[in-house]
Amino acid sequence: MNNILVIDSAVSGDSSVSKALVRDAVAALAEQAPASIVHRDLGRDPVPHLTEETLAGVRGTPGTEAELATRALSDELVAELRAADVVVIGAPMYNFSIATGLRSWFDHVLRAGETFRYTEAGPQGLLGGKHVIVVESRGGLYSEGPAQAVDFQEPYLRHLLGFIGLRDVTFVRAERIGFGRGTAVPSGGRDSTTGLRSATRPCGDKGKTWIPPGKKSPHSRPATAPRAGTCSASARDSPP
Ligand SMILES: Cc1cc2nc3c(=O)[nH]c(=O)nc-3n(C[C@H](O)[C@H](O)[C@H](O)COP(=O)(O)O)c2cc1C
Repeated sequence: MNNILVIDSAVSGDSSVSKALVRDAVAALAEQAPASIVHRDLGRDPVPHLTEETLAGVRGTPGTEAELATRALSDELVAELRAADVVVIGAPMYNFSIATGLRSWFDHVLRAGETFRYTEAGPQGLLGGKHVIVVESRGGLYSEGPAQAVDFQEPYLRHLLGFIGLRDVTFVRAERIGFGRGTAVPSGGRDSTTGLRSATRPCGDKGKTWIPPGKKSPHSRPATAPRAGTCSASARDSPP
């Protein structure tokens, strides 16, 4: 039995590109082996941001009701993460980085003595032996070209995950979503399974274009616009 932890963080509901790709990836994983799935939708049911009232729940000694509740939630999130064999994270790019909901989840699971510890040689991650798949959705193009320098999403996620010992990470990028019909879905990093590859490359090759479900390009002419959620022969990219 594969324990799969699914973390969605888009706040765009049913039109979310990252959530659609996460669903596909999880379905592909579940086809490969029997799976027990725990799902956190941080866009719909956010993990509260830390406040003055709750901080001691994750860093310090909780005493008040609010602090104890935060500690209980943090323990639960850490336990879900520990129990997972595979973690699938949907991470839209918001303002060049990650959604605040996902950031709040990290605030609750990066816990000294639980998921990392300080040693004389520096911090050491305590989680390992898991595969992490991160689906990144972005309006623009950041994997190459001038905007690469302002990609504070992927390096940040890589660092956060690595900090707690999660170094077996596959990044899958859905980029140029804001470009409409030029929305290719290349896969970054290492694709570890055939099922995942097909799930995360819905069109099977880079010569085709994937039109995200529920997404209509303002630049697509209705007569020629491919149906959302389908593959079509690649058109010339339109500017956003
Ligand atoms: C608040 C907000 C901020 C965004 N900031 C960026 C950004 O900095 N760079 C970018 O390329 N796209 C940005 N986008 C576009 C999203 O990355 C894009 O729409 C992506 O599809 C969102 O993922 P989702 O479809 O899973 O919600 C932003 C969208 C929102 C809602």
